[in-house]
Amino acid sequence: MKNKGRKLKISIIGLGFVGLSLAVTNAKKGFKTIGVDIDKNKIENLKIGIPPFYEPKLQKFLDDSLKTGSIKFMTDLKNALLNSDLSFLCVGTPPAKNEKIDLRYIKSATKKIHEILKLKEKYHLLVIKSTVAPETTKKVIIPVFRDLIDKGSLDIVTNPEFLREGTAINDLLHPHLIVIGEYEKKAGNHLERYYKQFYDTLPETIHTDTTSAELIKYANNTFLATKISFINSLANICQNLSGTDINTIAKAIGKDPRIGPLFLQAGPGFGGSCLPKDLSALINFSNKFEKTNGLFKAVVSVNQNQPIKILKLLNNFKFLKKTKTISILGLAFKKDTDDIRAAVSIEITKLLLKKNLKIKVYDPMAMDNFRKLFKEKIVYCSSIDECLKDSDCCFVLTEWDSFKKLKPEKFKKLMRTPNVIDARRILDPKKFSDVNFKAVGLGN
Ligand code: UDX
Repeated sequence: MKNKGRKLKISIIGLGFVGLSLAVTNAKKGFKTIGVDIDKNKIENLKIGIPPFYEPKLQKFLDDSLKTGSIKFMTDLKNALLNSDLSFLCVGTPPAKNEKIDLRYIKSATKKIHEILKLKEKYHLLVIKSTVAPETTKKVIIPVFRDLIDKGSLDIVTNPEFLREGTAINDLLHPHLIVIGEYEKKAGNHLERYYKQFYDTLPETIHTDTTSAELIKYANNTFLATKISFINSLANICQNLSGTDINTIAKAIGKDPRIGPLFLQAGPGFGGSCLPKDLSALINFSNKFEKTNGLFKAVVSVNQNQPIKILKLLNNFKFLKKTKTISILGLAFKKDTDDIRAAVSIEITKLLLKKNLKIKVYDPMAMDNFRKLFKEKIVYCSSIDECLKDSDCCFVLTEWDSFKKLKPEKFKKLMRTPNVIDARRILDPKKFSDVNFKAVGLGN
């Protein structure tokens, strides 16, 4: 390997999903890494190897890094900043009530960071990872640090991430792109130096200004959301068209290289901590530019209606008037995570509760999070079998691998009436011809 200079020391500020994934991956790559968070409980748990959420590979990377001593966790921001060359700012930017993003954590963290870096003599690079609306770096963050930037002791770059929950660590190890938002080449080059140390071969990198970097992140997620609402709109047509299947339509159009096959899986609508939030934030941000966001609003509206379209599949089954128990398999917003933020399971459960139905739920990972939300209003099951037992209709809402293996016999054996609604298209309709089977985007 070429001599890439002394390995930089890293601090990660804010140990949510992005920050913690980034921290353990840096540590595993041999960077001396400090993870900082204001949550004392989280830090104490991390010190003894207990992560606050489930993510594949996270536990192993955490254990390995604690063992080698390449990672340290603390609440002491000053210690972290003074003992690192480069900090990633990963504090949350949750949605605010007015659909804007809440910059509270960004503002308080940058204020504290500035106070500390004033005391530091050596150069420091502050990298903004948190997803923020266009112009936030320029208008909100940089002004806080203006004196240090002018003095030459600090640079700030905007470096959005494209990590998917469930594959975050792989995404960090093999990114499709690195975006560096800089106000001058020198600032971005400092970050590129870090990435050259991280990767044997530098992944494709785009240098741009900070505002464009922020907009790229929103554009990326909005485009993905648009593809999903597009395919779900077509799925809703297929449901009314005998003989059609959205999966065939998606497969066919996905072959066109101008369209591509990914993000054309029809389902109950997109959820998670990013797509819905970023879409709303972009709509809100672009409200000030006249008539520029009609398409984005339509994407939201299709997504909001999708759980209702899924519930309408219930009308195909005559049982509803005399029966009372519904099973939901899958609560997480997608497989391989315990995250239920903006998960469709929440909306569907609320709608079913309004119909006075008894609800039993099961998910391999997300039970605890769901319990916090619905408390004693529904029944929590510890297995698929327990969830299906004596039920009158089963909704499959998350595409967990363990659900993909389910055979129709199980539904027939355990359920009172084997009515199945596959909202994720993970079960083969041909094999399920013996049960009452309905699926998103499947014509009668
Ligand atoms: C997303 C972006 O993919 C990632 O780049 C960004 O950094 C954060 O937001 P994530 O929220 O982890 O990642 O989930 P993603 O895999 O994008 O899925 C979002 C939602 O869309 C899920 O509810 C998923 O089930 C749904 N989806 C995805 C579909 O309904 N159909 C598809 O074809 C793909």
